Amino acid sequence: MTRVKGAAHQDLAHDSAVKHVSGAAEYTDDIPEPVGTLHAYLGLSDVAHGRIAAMDLTAVRAAPGVVGVLTAEDIPGANDISPTGSGDDPVFPEKTVEFHGQPLFAVVATSRDAARRAAAQARIEIEPLPHALDPLAAIEAGYPEVTAPLTLQRGAVEDGMAAAPHRIRGRMVIGGQDHMYLEGHIAFAHPGEDEDVVVYSSSQHPSEAQHMVAHVLGVPSHSVVVNVRRMGGGFGGKETQMNLFAAVAAMAAKKWNRPVKIRPDRDQDMVATGKRHDFVADYAVGYDDNGRIQAVDGIFAARCGFSADLSGPVTDRALFHADNAYFYPHVRLTSRPMKTNTVSNTAFRGFGGPQGVIVAERMIEEIAYALGRDPLEIRKANFYRDGGDVTPYHQVVEDNILERIVGELENSADYQARRKAVIAANAKGDIIRRGIALTPVKFGISFTATWYNQAGALVHVYNDGSIMLNHGGTEMGQGLNIKVAQVVADAFQVDIDRIKITRTTTEKVPNTSATAASSGTDLNGMAALDACEQIKSRLVEFACETRGVEPGQVEFLPGRLRIGDEEIGFDALIKQAYMARVHLSAAGFYKTPKIHWDREEGKGRPFYYFAYGAACAEVAVDTLTGEYRVERVDILHDVGKSLNPVIDRGQVEGGFIQGMGWLTTEELWWDEAGRLRTHAPSTYKIPLASDRPRVFNVALADWSQNAERTIKRSKAVGEPPFMLGISVFEALSMAVASVADYRECPRLDAPATPERVLMAIERLKGTA
Ligand code: MTE
Ligand code: MOS
Repeated sequence: MTRVKGAAHQDLAHDSAVKHVSGAAEYTDDIPEPVGTLHAYLGLSDVAHGRIAAMDLTAVRAAPGVVGVLTAEDIPGANDISPTGSGDDPVFPEKTVEFHGQPLFAVVATSRDAARRAAAQARIEIEPLPHALDPLAAIEAGYPEVTAPLTLQRGAVEDGMAAAPHRIRGRMVIGGQDHMYLEGHIAFAHPGEDEDVVVYSSSQHPSEAQHMVAHVLGVPSHSVVVNVRRMGGGFGGKETQMNLFAAVAAMAAKKWNRPVKIRPDRDQDMVATGKRHDFVADYAVGYDDNGRIQAVDGIFAARCGFSADLSGPVTDRALFHADNAYFYPHVRLTSRPMKTNTVSNTAFRGFGGPQGVIVAERMIEEIAYALGRDPLEIRKANFYRDGGDVTPYHQVVEDNILERIVGELENSADYQARRKAVIAANAKGDIIRRGIALTPVKFGISFTATWYNQAGALVHVYNDGSIMLNHGGTEMGQGLNIKVAQVVADAFQVDIDRIKITRTTTEKVPNTSATAASSGTDLNGMAALDACEQIKSRLVEFACETRGVEPGQVEFLPGRLRIGDEEIGFDALIKQAYMARVHLSAAGFYKTPKIHWDREEGKGRPFYYFAYGAACAEVAVDTLTGEYRVERVDILHDVGKSLNPVIDRGQVEGGFIQGMGWLTTEELWWDEAGRLRTHAPSTYKIPLASDRPRVFNVALADWSQNAERTIKRSKAVGEPPFMLGISVFEALSMAVASVADYRECPRLDAPATPERVLMAIERLKGTA
């Protein structure tokens, strides 16, 4: 029997892989520009907080090529693009500037260069007000939270803490991260008749861009179409932050009745759009002589920036992951989503989860160093056990595979022998010190805002047997489209070449959720399957009627159907069905079952299931300079029954490297005036190819199957591997600790830049 090419569970290259590397893949900036296209550019604030006294744009308007400017006064509808309806996110502020780099106006000109030069001509008078840049300064200044904080609790934390034989308190400062997508923000708007406008946007959330543009223009959503063929990376940075660009392009397009494109340069993209939240976490942990945790009390203060954006759900998710893989008998976790005079921070791979996980791992480290034990032993002693251990949000961990995944990696990476070798090597007292760490991850899958867990798809079978697939998810390099196409190929038993994967458009699937929370395939794969099943059942009915057989006698075989004793090619049957007026198109829908969440109570089942993984990293550190190298990394990651192992492995590798970058070289630095000084790749260092681990062994847990009925029993993969980068951070910590014979937890803050590593070494040596 021939096999269907590209059905589920096969290794298949990304559908755009060749186009990506040959330059043929179309991004928003590649769309041909109609004659008369105009270009917009933003003018930014150079004050962190202040009252706008005067805005003199005369020189801007008079600059060569300028067609006009847009300010708050030119907004036809609502001057608000807050994604959660908080009302605190103006397109352009009217009275008060809230961060250095805040967009104040846009200038529209005949070329991008002209617009960019003109923007610099603005004379804006701002009366400065006092500013607070980080969460601690904000708390001290009595700033409000941008959204309601959350508390998760279970048990009696004071009693648990008092009863514990040992207690440790600490503070960890965790840095943010710029998304550094290869393709920056961009929007291209084409005006239509009446109130219509079509916007091409680099966005993970076309429906939201549509609704925001409609809101800003003051027109119904049906007047706005948003199209996304693909993004050159999103990583969470295009879940809400595209709204500004989409709104500006659409406003300008309608105002001048010309196509308008806006594309900030990299510096402006970095300064004016939100990033990963940095956190200051204060923790207290009580534990026994065996390192078993008795109680945890944690406060997580975050730099949210000037507006709420997604800071509520992001700081919630930090709490949801502050247990990582560990059971806390008594626990209280509180978020403090602080307003600051910085750009409004947003979603970024892991969505606050990584900041929670790293605090759990810090507490494990603290206990291990205090007891003089291997941190891996302490980890194992605290894993959720099978049979009813409950998380701080009162969800039972039903699908626990922590012991198996960690145990297998411990063996395959030869952890125990290598740790002995590392300790022996360090004992020689050389300048180069080594460190090794094995860290797990358990990541909850589903949007915690339950209503987002829905998706739609539209499948057409044309009468030549070719298939058009559309779904509400967006492609940002992660391989969503190929995986959903595999589901369709599998359903119809046809080769994947027959399936055309189209751009995402609000015209075909309405009211979609962001492609985020790693759930793109889970949701859209199921919606597409639903559409396929509807068409298939019509075909089966047609076959039964025309052949006089029972539905049980109709079978979809590769490229053909068996109907009773007859075999007929898929194309031939489709043609017959068309001639008999069978409807060959269907809209599919899916909503995730079982989940619910009561935020007031802090209780529920926010996650449909968990994805697991583990990484073992070994590093070498130069104790004279603080510079380091990642020598070897072994990963074992759980993607359930993979829809496409080669794509999933790519996500694991990429996620790990991005997580490593967050914790090592990627440092955001604001000066006292609130100016982001790391606003280009020259000063903001993402990992290079040369920074990858010298040895990099990545495997998927091929025995894993999702215990829940997800699409083909697969699991989400986009975000969980990001947190495996923590193994590098912990290995660095061990290398540092070696200079004081592992007597003290080095308490590295993140990112552990070479400077920070060197300072920690000197402090531990007593030479600082
Ligand atoms: N992979 C690539 N290549 N580019 C991206 O922008 N975004 C990540 C992850 N992997 C991203 C990526 C993030 S933040 C998420 S939430 C998921 O992909 C979203 O896609 P999925 O739900 O289809 O996994
Ligand atoms: Mo991902 S941060 O959920 O876009």
